[in-house]
Amino acid sequence: MLEDKYGRRFHYLRLSITDVCNFSCDYCLPDGYACDTKRDFLSVEEIRVLVAGFAKLGTSKVRVTGGEPALRRDLAEIIGICAQTKGIEHVTMTTNGYKLESDIETWVAAGLSSINVSIDSLDPKMFAAITGHDKLDSILRGIDKALALGIDVKVNAVLLKQYNQFELTQFFNWIKYTPVSMRLIELMQTGDNLNFFHKNHVSGMPIKEQLIKDGWTQKIRSKTAGPAQEFFHPDYLGRFGLIMPYSKDFCASCNRLRISATGKLHLCLFAEQGLDIRPSLAEQSSDKLVAQLTQLLSDKEATHWLQDGYTGATTHLAMLGG
Ligand code: 5AD
Ligand code: SF4
Repeated sequence: MLEDKYGRRFHYLRLSITDVCNFSCDYCLPDGYACDTKRDFLSVEEIRVLVAGFAKLGTSKVRVTGGEPALRRDLAEIIGICAQTKGIEHVTMTTNGYKLESDIETWVAAGLSSINVSIDSLDPKMFAAITGHDKLDSILRGIDKALALGIDVKVNAVLLKQYNQFELTQFFNWIKYTPVSMRLIELMQTGDNLNFFHKNHVSGMPIKEQLIKDGWTQKIRSKTAGPAQEFFHPDYLGRFGLIMPYSKDFCASCNRLRISATGKLHLCLFAEQGLDIRPSLAEQSSDKLVAQLTQLLSDKEATHWLQDGYTGATTHLAMLGG
């Protein structure tokens, strides 16, 4: 079992398969993706060895992320490899929803068991202003399709002072009758977004206090759950969650490791550097990888230093898929 020196166990792998994204979210890639150098992303074969190695060490859940993972033509094959690996019980993915409406059936047939879709605003104009794409209606239809197929749907919105802070009622009205798990993420500072961060960061704490006043009850976390504090309410089909990376003890419940699209292990979203595991993926078996991972994990730090404005090597989250 992968465990660090603070006793945290890592059941959950976040696997980025590309850092390319076609959206230009103001907090992430405001000028769009810069395709300056040719990227050599992990191949399907390397991913097979990788996931097998993690599964041997106790990983039971894989999240496929990007950039935008649906920009890879072999996405369904990658989902299938993860789903068929012995020990992997849950395959999920994070997407901007661009191909959700057209491709969700294929992904579910390949073995996808849940999905996270980013929607920062339910106002089509605001959605287009933030992401650069007028796709909200299609994404909402895609979500209905995913729900009809019976998979769990989570919807991420980054809380932004100047954009959606005063639109939260729209989200609540929507989840009253839509059985999705909505989560509001506090904006995180990255190497590239300092100015935007200062203008738009707001704490989720007042929202949490309001939820409790309004009769929402907090759920207990499961072992593979993410860092969200989740709430439910008898009058709502959907759930509501808050992700507050600036809150005390956020890192204590960390249960995930990250692999970048070029095969670097990131012990934290805000680690100083990625650790190259790619040579171990060239082997037929995952034994070498298993030995390397066990050794590398002894270096995982207790916490990030985001509160001090230290963002490590992370210039934007498209690098690692959040
Ligand atoms: N702060 C918080 N969330 C972010 N995301 C991307 N960049 C940031 C940031 N700086 C979110 C995306 C997506 C998820 C993968 O991470 O909106 O929902
Ligand atoms: Fe937006 Fe995600 Fe693309 Fe960044 S990677 S621009 S957050 S859709």
